[in-house]
Amino acid sequence: MQVSFVTGNSGKFAEAEKILKEFGVNISYQNPQVNEIRSDSLEEIASASAREAHAGLGQPLFVEDSGLFIPLLDGFPGPYSAWVFRKLGNRGILRLASGKPAKFRACIAYTDGEAVHAFMGSVKGKISDQSRGTGGFGYDPIFIPEKFPGIRHSGEKTFAESPGMKFALSHRKRALEKLGKFLQESRKY
Ligand code: IMP
Repeated sequence: MQVSFVTGNSGKFAEAEKILKEFGVNISYQNPQVNEIRSDSLEEIASASAREAHAGLGQPLFVEDSGLFIPLLDGFPGPYSAWVFRKLGNRGILRLASGKPAKFRACIAYTDGEAVHAFMGSVKGKISDQSRGTGGFGYDPIFIPEKFPGIRHSGEKTFAESPGMKFALSHRKRALEKLGKFLQESRKY
């Protein structure tokens, strides 16, 4: 049996495929229409999407929901990150929070039709003073991660300037590793 990753983002799929392979889990790509609920909680959004996707596809799957959280702005844009990115872009966030602490968070919700299991991952850092780099997507050009023990750090580089560093310590990677461990232990895939 295979587990599917329901996403509209082929970059996220490629990242997940590589990480989950290390846990012996093969995934397939699915992109059905799923209506995202509105909520302040990534976990609620991802879990509702997983349930809806499972009702349509009827197979074990996971979805991912993520965002940029800025404490100075009470967690904004948080779960509204995709919409805010389209409306304000990186220039808007730089005007609001340049140099301020920020965090990327990701929630992966997995279901095989019974319970929904949620796995969180996060990475702390700060908003840069200007947009830098061409790698990645979304807020990557304005996010500088904190140093993390055991991971080679690229100084003041943004995620967009250092895709290797992003791959090593991203919020999504951390959530995917928890999912990988869970699937490995449940020995289903
Ligand atoms: P969604 O989970 O695909 O809805 O993504 C939410 C939004 O958060 C994206 O459109 C990006 O703007 C932002 N985001 C989530 N993860 C990342 C990341 O790894 N880098 C940069 N932006 C991200």
